[in-house]
Amino acid sequence: MVICNTRMKNVLIIGSTGQIGSELTMKLRHLHPEGNIVAGYIPGFEPKGELLESGPSAVVNVVDAVQIAEAVGRYKIDTIYNLAALLSATAEKFPLKAWDIQMNGLINILEVAREHGCAVFTPSSIGSFGPSTPHKDTPQDTIQRPTSMYGVTKVATELLSDYYFHKYGVDTRSVRFPGLISYTTLPGGGTTDYAVEIYYAAVKGEEFVCPIAAGTLMDMMYMPDALKAAVDIMEADPSKLIHRNSFNIASMSFAPEDVFAAIKKIIPDAKMRYEVDPVRQAIADSWPDNMDDSCARAEWGWMPHYDLDSMSKDMIEHLRIKLGK
Ligand code: SER
Repeated sequence: MVICNTRMKNVLIIGSTGQIGSELTMKLRHLHPEGNIVAGYIPGFEPKGELLESGPSAVVNVVDAVQIAEAVGRYKIDTIYNLAALLSATAEKFPLKAWDIQMNGLINILEVAREHGCAVFTPSSIGSFGPSTPHKDTPQDTIQRPTSMYGVTKVATELLSDYYFHKYGVDTRSVRFPGLISYTTLPGGGTTDYAVEIYYAAVKGEEFVCPIAAGTLMDMMYMPDALKAAVDIMEADPSKLIHRNSFNIASMSFAPEDVFAAIKKIIPDAKMRYEVDPVRQAIADSWPDNMDDSCARAEWGWMPHYDLDSMSKDMIEHLRIKLGK
C-alpha cells in the first residue's frame, strides 16, 4: 500500500469562501507562498478581496467529479481540504441536499484523490455524536448514533474516509470540530452559531436573543486554534497516528450564560434573553458537553491556545474594528 506524501505544497480548498475556508486558504497561502493554494468555490460564493487576489481560484462544485479532477490536475494538487457542507440546522431543513453535498461530494473527492495520490481532510464534528454517546468527557472511541442528518453524514464521512485509507491507501485525516467562533466570515445554519452571533450583538449594542437554553454545554473553539488543528493534523508524522478519521479536539466548553458572562466582563451593558429554537435545542441536547481530546494530544501534539476569556478579548477587539464600534 502506498501512503501518499502528506507534505503540503499544492492545496485545493473546496468551500474556500465559507467560515473555515476563507481563513484556512489565507493561512495556507502564508505558510506555502511557493505553492498553488487554490480557492475552490461555487457560483454565487465567489472569493473577493484578498482571498481572490492572493492566489488562484477555480469553480469546484463538490458534487461535480470532473471539476474536482480538472482542478487537481491543472494545479498538481497534493492535498484537498473538503469544507463543503450544510451545517446541522440547515441540514434538518434540506436533508437530501445535505446528503448529496456531504456524501456524494465526499466520494467524488476520495475517488479523485485515489487516482491522483492526494491527501484529504474532511472535517467531522461534535455532531457525529448522539443522545446515547457519553456526554461528559466524550471518549475518542465511543458510541456514535447521531439523530440529525448532519450527524449521520459526519459519521459516514469518518467511516468512508477510513475505508479509503485502509483499502486504497488514500491519506485521509481529520478532526471533530467543536462549534467554531470567528470574526471574519459568519457560519450559517449551525447549532453553535449563537456563540458567534452573541459577540456581534454585544459589539453592536443590541440585545442578543439566544436560541439555545441556559445550561446547555457544548464544546467550542476559536478559529485560530481550529486552523492550527487543520494544518497540524495534515502535517503530522503518519507513523504516530493510531487514529485518522476523526480526532476529538477540544479547547473550551460553555453554556450560553458562560459566554454571556465572559462578554459582560468587557462590555458590561451587554444584554441577552432566551427564545429557544426547538430544532437547534434538540440537536444541542444530543451533542457532548465536552470531548476528551487526549488521543489528539498524544498522537500529533494537539494543544489549543485560547480559552473563553482570551478568545472573548480578541474577538471583541477585532469586531470593534470590523464594525467600526
Ligand atoms: N458548528 C456545527 C453546527 O453547529 C457543528 O459542527 O452545525
